[in-house]
Amino acid sequence: MQSVKIGILGLGTVGSGTVNVLTRNSREISRRAGRDIEIYRAADRDLDKPKGCDTSAINLTDDAFDIINDPEIQIVVELIGGTGVAKELVIKAIENGKHVVTANKALIAIHGNELFELAQEKGVTISFEAAVAGGIPIIKAMREGLAGNRIEWLAGIINGTGNFILTEMREKGRDFADVLAEAQALGYAEADPTFDIEGIDAAHKLTIMASIAFGIPLQFDKCYTEGISRIAQEDVLNANELGYRIKHLGIAKKTTAGVELRVHPTLIPQRRLLANVNGVMNAVVVKGDAVGPTLYYGAGAGSEATASAVVADIVDIVRALTTDPENRVPHLAFQPDALKDTPI
Ligand code: HSE
Repeated sequence: MQSVKIGILGLGTVGSGTVNVLTRNSREISRRAGRDIEIYRAADRDLDKPKGCDTSAINLTDDAFDIINDPEIQIVVELIGGTGVAKELVIKAIENGKHVVTANKALIAIHGNELFELAQEKGVTISFEAAVAGGIPIIKAMREGLAGNRIEWLAGIINGTGNFILTEMREKGRDFADVLAEAQALGYAEADPTFDIEGIDAAHKLTIMASIAFGIPLQFDKCYTEGISRIAQEDVLNANELGYRIKHLGIAKKTTAGVELRVHPTLIPQRRLLANVNGVMNAVVVKGDAVGPTLYYGAGAGSEATASAVVADIVDIVRALTTDPENRVPHLAFQPDALKDTPI
């Protein structure tokens, strides 16, 4: 059977990780997908900048439209980030009948409603497992594993950079700015790191998780958002002395008035599981009415951890294309009608 051709937009931290994972694990990935997956083209705006992957066998371009407009390419993998050019490219890719895989939480949280509607109209899929909690397959867990449940609430540590900063401040007494600079060097932080430390990145992710958990439209502007930028070293140490840890949490809860969404620092007793999630690790607790509380833990940021989720989405699409090409159902989190009537 012919390979499925994909095009990757952006060869930064996650793009390079995706190339590395697809190349290194190609045998396992092909077996699970039912077809070979070929990186047909990859685009990056700065081809002279060294990449974190071997590009010698890849047909590179600095024009993303070479990928968007290539009829051979069935899946476009958007790893540029942000809501500017990435949005334009994703819309064009969908209009050209391509399935889209993205790690772009801002794009999904802010523009997901319109993108899903467009994708449904065009009969293609937008997959975004990598947009939330890095390598943890939390979207699939809620959508598939917990499909029989009414989800009552979810709560978790969903920004790796912030958790890395708080952990290093507590364990090593390090300075906030110094740890943030290290998180940037390690490829954990957003292009604009204020998104990490002011809670915006966590709010994007919580918005997406709540949409999947409760079947509601994406409503980023309804999320109460507070970050960790005003937490001082003495706050971290005082909390520790009192038997608590400061953790930045995202919480989504069903109430009689609607769904409550909030991200902010919290004090958690030291013996609790979430208090012991350290460094760049993320953890999310999801409470279903049938299963009770469930816990998902893993690396929340980083090149190959995030690539792991990107590749899982590619495999899902390839498997569906292979087994059931006519009946592909877009990965909608909600029915477009639900846009009208969701109180928060
Ligand atoms: N900047 C994000 C984080 C990257 O630190 O969690 C992964 O989404």
